[in-house]
Amino acid sequence: MSASETIPSSTDVADDGYVFEATDLVKTFGHVQATRRVSIALRKGEVLALFGDNGAGKSTLTKLLCGVYSPDSGAIRVGGSEVVLRGTRDAEAHGITVVHQDLALAPDLSVLENMYLGHEITRRGVLGGLGFLDRSAMAERTAAALHKLSIRLPSVSVAVKDLSGGQRQAVAVARASLWANAGILMDEPTAALGTIQSDIVCDLIRSTAAAGIGVMVISHDIPRILDIADRVIVLRHGQIALDRPTGSLNRSDVVAAMVGLTGTDPENEEDNR
Ligand SMILES: Nc1ncnc2c1ncn2[C@@H]1O[C@H](COP(=O)(O)OP(=O)(O)OP(=O)(O)O)[C@@H](O)[C@H]1O
Ligand SMILES: [Mg+2]
Repeated sequence: MSASETIPSSTDVADDGYVFEATDLVKTFGHVQATRRVSIALRKGEVLALFGDNGAGKSTLTKLLCGVYSPDSGAIRVGGSEVVLRGTRDAEAHGITVVHQDLALAPDLSVLENMYLGHEITRRGVLGGLGFLDRSAMAERTAAALHKLSIRLPSVSVAVKDLSGGQRQAVAVARASLWANAGILMDEPTAALGTIQSDIVCDLIRSTAAAGIGVMVISHDIPRILDIADRVIVLRHGQIALDRPTGSLNRSDVVAAMVGLTGTDPENEEDNR
């Protein structure tokens, strides 16, 4: 990271109320069509639940939306303009941050180091040479980000491996919220967490959305996520089987769409009978 590089601010992204609008995203692995013309948009300030059975294409879709994969076809627009995301850095520059299914925190590094991994703030040395890490600026921003999300830790210097699973998850969410100006994509943030920890993460998701960030959450914990979601999308066989405001949707409506008892699945017309 160069000394002149700064943390992107929300003013870098034209504000049309959307984090992104994606149309007709196709991603194929060999003969597996992981996503088949998926169109999906995320609004700022909303919690969007993305449900679907194992292998439905949820993680693939997330990776397309954060630049880990390039789509075979289809387009992603940010601020009304088409963007090409060549990696998560590109996505972050457009305000989109991701919390992957496997968390991806470095266990031996401290909370502070994890928060800034790959984003270290540098200051030019007196001789204009290599920048050095501006630790106090990083610690200040980390403390502010954790405070905003009501996360209490003994210290930002504690190693991530010494945190509980819930605290780690909270740090991963806080890290994403620090770098997201517009949206966060969370792939199963409550998997493997207990009830109380899951509730904490759900609170974090709600407060992040209340701060104007759009949050897309993938989960198999349908009732818990339905509780906090404004809108629900169900993927089935790489296609959208349901896209509705949460409203009166309940678990059985979601499961019905997941298994093809409602919605459309052109591959199997019998699904709709
Ligand atoms: N890198 C890859 N190479 C080949 N096939 C892949 C790859 N990633 C995903 N797939 C396939 O694409 C399909 C969708 O997988 P994906 O991981 O997106 O599902 P998912 O909805 O996230 O499932 P889960 O709920 O189990 O996490 C699956 O059939 C999977 O085997
Ligand atoms: Mg997945």
